[in-house]
Amino acid sequence: MSTNRIIDLYSDTQTRPSAGMRRAMAEAEVGDEQRGEDPSTNLLQERVADLLGKEAAMFLPSGTMCNQIAMLVHCRQGDEIIGAEVTHLFTSEAGGASALAGAQTWPIRCDSGIFTGADVEAAVRAPGRHNPISKVVVIEQTVNRGGGAIWPVERIAEVATVARKHGLVVHMDGARLMNAAVSSGIAAKDMTAHVDTAWVDLSKGLGCPVGGVLVGSRAFIDDAWRWKHRLGGARPQHPEARRGSCQCCRTRRSDHGSSGPQAFHAAHREQHRVLRVDPA
Ligand SMILES: Cc1ncc(COP(=O)(O)O)c(C=O)c1O
Repeated sequence: MSTNRIIDLYSDTQTRPSAGMRRAMAEAEVGDEQRGEDPSTNLLQERVADLLGKEAAMFLPSGTMCNQIAMLVHCRQGDEIIGAEVTHLFTSEAGGASALAGAQTWPIRCDSGIFTGADVEAAVRAPGRHNPISKVVVIEQTVNRGGGAIWPVERIAEVATVARKHGLVVHMDGARLMNAAVSSGIAAKDMTAHVDTAWVDLSKGLGCPVGGVLVGSRAFIDDAWRWKHRLGGARPQHPEARRGSCQCCRTRRSDHGSSGPQAFHAAHREQHRVLRVDPA
């Protein structure tokens, strides 16, 4: 009987790089990413910008850095970020939005993490010298602490309409955006069509060791690059993660394919020899 089977239900972050991923990293074409001369990174960025229907993209070492840099670009000190009380940006990033961007947060009460346009309307601050300036609405797709709830596109559009009416930008934490796209059969770029900035994580469930890709307008990404340098997120000669990320992009698309996340998870369990447990 096999003795190397384990049960690891902690998180989809517990995956390990596969042999193919390791090979892709070892064989990566490399260049200086800080100068925009890393062909693997450039390719990945082009692909993800296209995948999410935005002008430009930027590779970052983590999803957390994607969120934080987005807030640094969107907010000035004293501004306010509106989002679900359960959103990762509010609960799990060590208060980064206030520590780094100097922005405060306005959590909307909702267990699922999916709120309404009316919720945003009620949360936006009235103009006035006593009030913070509401600046960003954050949507998390899927909602990690909301049991993986998926934002329907219509709801994203509704929230974005209210946000725009008040001059706010809409940011999508898309750590598991691709899972939402596959599960609901809606193209990722249709899910990001109503938001200004978004990102996808490369380390969730796919065995890619690191990385996220942030997208938005060309002007947004140009500003974001300055923060990437300031925070030490830009690296010359650091090919492993990026090549792995390219591999990851392919894996995610082909594994999810038309057969949905179940097929992906089944393939993953098989590959990593993790048992499935039926909690019922
Ligand atoms: C919804 C959500 N956002 C952001 C992150 C942070 O991503 P990373 O671990 O790549 O920093 C996570 C991590 O689990 C997450 O679940």
